[in-house]
Amino acid sequence: MAKSASASPLRAKPVGELSDGDARVEHAVLDEEIAEHDRRYHQEDRPAISDADYDKLRRRYEEIEARFPALVDEESRSRRVGASPSEKFAKVRHRVPMLSLSNAFTDDEVLEFLARVRRFLDRDAASMPAFTAEPKIDGLSCAIRYERGELTRAATRGDGEEGEDVTANVRTIRAIPERLEGKNVPEVLEVRGEVYLRHDDFARINARQAEQGRPVFANPRNAAAGSLRQLDPAVTARRPLRFFAYAWGEVSALPAASQMGVVEAFARFGLPTNPLIRLCRTSEEMLAHYRLIEAQRSSLGYDIDGVVYKVDDLALQRRLGFVSRSPRWALAHKFPAEKATTPVEAIEIQVGRTGALTPVAKLRPVTVGGVVVSNATLHNEEEIQRKDIRIGDTVTVQRAGDVIPQVLGFIEAMRPQTASPYDFPKLCPACGSHAVREINPRTGREDAVRRCTGGLICPAQAVERLRHFVSRNAFDIEGLGAERIELFYKEGLVARPQDIFTLEERDKRSTRRLMEREGFGETSARNLFNAIAARREIALNRFMYALGIRHVGEATAKELARHFGSVKALEETAVAAQDRTCEAWSELTSIEGIGEVVAEALVDFFEEAHNREIVKELLEQVSVVSPEAAAENSALSGKTVVFTGSLEKITREEAKAMAERLGAKVSGSVSKKTDLVVAGASAGSKLAKARELGIETIDEEAWLNLARGVKSE
Ligand code: IVH
Repeated sequence: MAKSASASPLRAKPVGELSDGDARVEHAVLDEEIAEHDRRYHQEDRPAISDADYDKLRRRYEEIEARFPALVDEESRSRRVGASPSEKFAKVRHRVPMLSLSNAFTDDEVLEFLARVRRFLDRDAASMPAFTAEPKIDGLSCAIRYERGELTRAATRGDGEEGEDVTANVRTIRAIPERLEGKNVPEVLEVRGEVYLRHDDFARINARQAEQGRPVFANPRNAAAGSLRQLDPAVTARRPLRFFAYAWGEVSALPAASQMGVVEAFARFGLPTNPLIRLCRTSEEMLAHYRLIEAQRSSLGYDIDGVVYKVDDLALQRRLGFVSRSPRWALAHKFPAEKATTPVEAIEIQVGRTGALTPVAKLRPVTVGGVVVSNATLHNEEEIQRKDIRIGDTVTVQRAGDVIPQVLGFIEAMRPQTASPYDFPKLCPACGSHAVREINPRTGREDAVRRCTGGLICPAQAVERLRHFVSRNAFDIEGLGAERIELFYKEGLVARPQDIFTLEERDKRSTRRLMEREGFGETSARNLFNAIAARREIALNRFMYALGIRHVGEATAKELARHFGSVKALEETAVAAQDRTCEAWSELTSIEGIGEVVAEALVDFFEEAHNREIVKELLEQVSVVSPEAAAENSALSGKTVVFTGSLEKITREEAKAMAERLGAKVSGSVSKKTDLVVAGASAGSKLAKARELGIETIDEEAWLNLARGVKSE
């Protein structure tokens, strides 16, 4: 756990009195501490300190960065996205408290519950009230308020009395309508239900986390909670959260008199409801439905942890009321946990596309909750060390999300005497290059992930790197998408970036011409060669970005281009900076926006002979020009462009970057000074105004052609 605020003696000093060295140390410590609190708060929902203490940490961190700007680097900047204290979630008081359910684990406990309900209502066995039975979704509950059919507020459950305002995030969830449809929508309707993630989506999110060396989520529920409680709604928007509506809070007029009727009304209003809800008239029907849902559990594609029974008649629900914090009219009938034990027969290392080495436990096949499991991810080297998993150990596995089973831990009594700690490979199994755990220079701590340093010579990484190389913000070679890159790589036509530029020459001499291959005709081969030729002149920042150096994003590439003015100058400095005490290292780290992490990555990249060779051979093929020169040659240079309406192929941000790259200015409003209006779908008043002023207007497609056709780009 992170140290408490009082653990650092420096913490007592006002920021104004910190020396450079003090500031560097404290910045690194704070960085780590804040990251740990963020992780606990967002991913584990288990904060260790109060919001006020957290805010104090952040404020101090920001004060230090304001006084010592050299400490700001890519990581601390990215951490700040949408995470400043002022943007923390506002609290929302639930007008109707959000309660929990009492649990039952056996059929007998369910029968006891039914007997209690009957006793309370003074009914005999023959006049049992009807119950709904539906899956208990393992996500997090959320209250969504609609006023006159419009979504006005969304809140998490919190402590049941007070939750957090997550309106902006909930608006990004596609399954949740912004506007209710259909007849008789109540004036005020607070819909309650569960936000959850499907297994396949969860697996994708975790694969991305692991690949990027970030902590993985333990299960879909945590991932859903972490995603919903993101301070930046743009992050939530990228996580495919879903929703089932099953209850309500404040309502001006209920649309039905029964539980089932209200849920059916929800569906008519356009809200997602669970298809497995049934009306049961006897205890046998209830238990049979429980078994049916249990049997389908592993194939539903999302986590459920039981079945919820609710008295159907709302008048009876009102009579039954509540005991402490749970309704007397409802019960959660839980499923047994899906766990099993099995031996680890081997540990296999997979190499991800960015070089991350991911260990996978090969298990003796075992059935966990109805599904045969034979592989389980061990995430990364640190995770194996932390759990001390060894080959030969018998481990407990749990299906968290059914797709990737988790290894919870090993059983000590069953450890064979011969089992020795797992020796994680130090060489990449795909290419034999050294695989290293980078040291974060600010914290002095090792990365959790070991990565292959082979870069482009590693087949596992090459395709992904090549894709990056030709991507829109790098070389932007039209007609050379992911599929073709993969094909060319497999066929041995393109293994390194420089090969792209010799493709045409080699093709001329080849006996198996591109145009004769499946999927290519004469025109498409010609177009591809032309598109490649058009990129023989490239702006320096794009060139640097295209190399795919770790931590060098577009913004950093721009800074590097501005500072060094040529690839050679950057390379020379990075090579000289291998000696950390020399001037070159201080030059690198003193560049605006470049911290030690980036500097380290640059040194590492140019340290490798094969990377220097790629750069050298590329420079023989392409001519690198300054970003300004690239923009000046453009037909759009000096023009003012306005984007309006919704763009479908590219984001607004991307469109803006494209225009700026071509030397154009992007404005938000149309005036006489506007030269060009790009109108996406359902463009409104701005388009009308442009027409009125006689300004040239084009659609998205024409914009893309225009932007791509400009030769100097
Ligand atoms: S009804 C007053 N129905 O379970 C009762 N809850 O342990 C309101 N849950 O906080 C809840 N699926 O997050 C209900 N079909 C379902 C549910 C469900 C999941 C969750 C909900 C609640 C918790 C109670």
